[in-house]
Amino acid sequence: QLKDNTSIVVFGASGDLAKKKTFPALFGLRKMGLLPKDTRIIGYARSKMTNEEFHDKVTGFIKIDDNDSNSKKLLDEFKSGLSYVAGGYDGEEAFKNLNDNLTNAEKSNASSGKVSNRLFYLALPPSVFGSVSEGLRKFCYSGSGTNRLIVEKPFGKDTESSQQLMNAIKANWSEEEIFRIDHYLGKEMVKNLLVLRFANVFLDNQFHKNSVDNVQITFKEPFGTEGRGGYFDEFNIIRDILQNHLMQVLSLVTMERPVSFSSEDIRDEKVKVLRTIPPLKPEEVVLGQYVGANGKPGYKEDDTVPQDSNCPTYAACALHINNPRWEGVPFILKAGKALNEGKVEVRIQFKDVTSGIFSDIPRDELVIRIQPSEAIYLKANTKVPGLHMSALPTELDLTYKDRFDKAVIPEAYESLLLDALNGDHSNFVRDDELDIAWKIFTPILHWIEGANGEKPTPDSYEYGSRGPKGVEEFQAKFGYKRTPDNYKWPVTDLS
Ligand code: BG6
Repeated sequence: QLKDNTSIVVFGASGDLAKKKTFPALFGLRKMGLLPKDTRIIGYARSKMTNEEFHDKVTGFIKIDDNDSNSKKLLDEFKSGLSYVAGGYDGEEAFKNLNDNLTNAEKSNASSGKVSNRLFYLALPPSVFGSVSEGLRKFCYSGSGTNRLIVEKPFGKDTESSQQLMNAIKANWSEEEIFRIDHYLGKEMVKNLLVLRFANVFLDNQFHKNSVDNVQITFKEPFGTEGRGGYFDEFNIIRDILQNHLMQVLSLVTMERPVSFSSEDIRDEKVKVLRTIPPLKPEEVVLGQYVGANGKPGYKEDDTVPQDSNCPTYAACALHINNPRWEGVPFILKAGKALNEGKVEVRIQFKDVTSGIFSDIPRDELVIRIQPSEAIYLKANTKVPGLHMSALPTELDLTYKDRFDKAVIPEAYESLLLDALNGDHSNFVRDDELDIAWKIFTPILHWIEGANGEKPTPDSYEYGSRGPKGVEEFQAKFGYKRTPDNYKWPVTDLS
């Protein structure tokens, strides 16, 4: 655990991620009293800036209530421990300069004389992961305390480039010191998957091919790649969402019970299930790209996107798990930008009720809504209240804001930064986990990029729609049955 005399250095400090997520999360931890007061936070980036300019830049995204004097005081305190160092991402000079800054600050710290811990957070493009991790190890490594390195995705573009990147970092840092962030692992509902499954006998037994027909893991965003077209065109929706965020959710939904909740036991089980998934084939994928509609621009209307881009902004795929628990159950992963709503959920659809006594009765579904409005609900058939005998789909509902009305759900980054400070790897991506996830998607990524000759053309869908037209048919092919349209929540008409 990094307690006293810790420096956190955020690389890429003026970038979007650091501004929108990292600094607000660090402030959140400070506010909750979880970040020791003498923790120094140093922003590091190329551009020259004074500390004040830097403060203005990064605290703009920290929300505080103007009427709450305590919050304002905390923000001032936070700023006083927040400084900025400008420098490049390679060459000895830059890292030596950073090290001098860190050493001076550590010396003047009240707890000086004790060990000095350093946590380096790389919110940087992967092209500089190698040089930065090397420079830090050579010139900025604390000889007297614990050193940790947090890295943000993208971790490469396919199996080969990811392995190169991993090796470049591992040449200087041990796996114990490396924390690869997938921020979905810090989300409350994703963290709940292990409790939900392994602390409930009735549920865990149903997570099985005997009961489950198909599983859908869905990510929908109501906005496009506005402003990020250049980045996105290289990465596409598969690298941006499916290979990492949705695969993490999939592994937690399907893994076997870990021996303990230790990080290695959990990650061993995740790896085990991932290794049973064969690489995706083109016929198991639907690709889409959004076009302008209702005044909203199409993907290619972004100047940074090439006019002939076939980059998918939507992808649906069906994965198969070859183990005794899940054999034959398709896992349909879907992710898209510029859709009709923002939602991330896991939908486990159970098998049909044995025919005979009921006709046209919908399937049960267990839905774990990761966001917005965290909820777990089981769509289950119930007798319609009254004197006649008929069934109606209703739900057993655990909506968090109703059940835990006072609970404050932490931001994913708050939870993960705290874990990294505490040295807990459970919610970080291990090297072998990353490698297997890439192996599943690499052939399809190469196919999209023209490895087999012609590049496939994604189906168009309108900005604000439900996605490409072919998706419903695709889901049906893999067994999914939509609940009839008359399913309403709450039930208002019992006639
Ligand atoms: C990021 C992706 O990893 O996750 C973005 O790069 C995406 O494209 C984001 O918008 C979604 O995260 P969240 O927490 O808003 O669901």
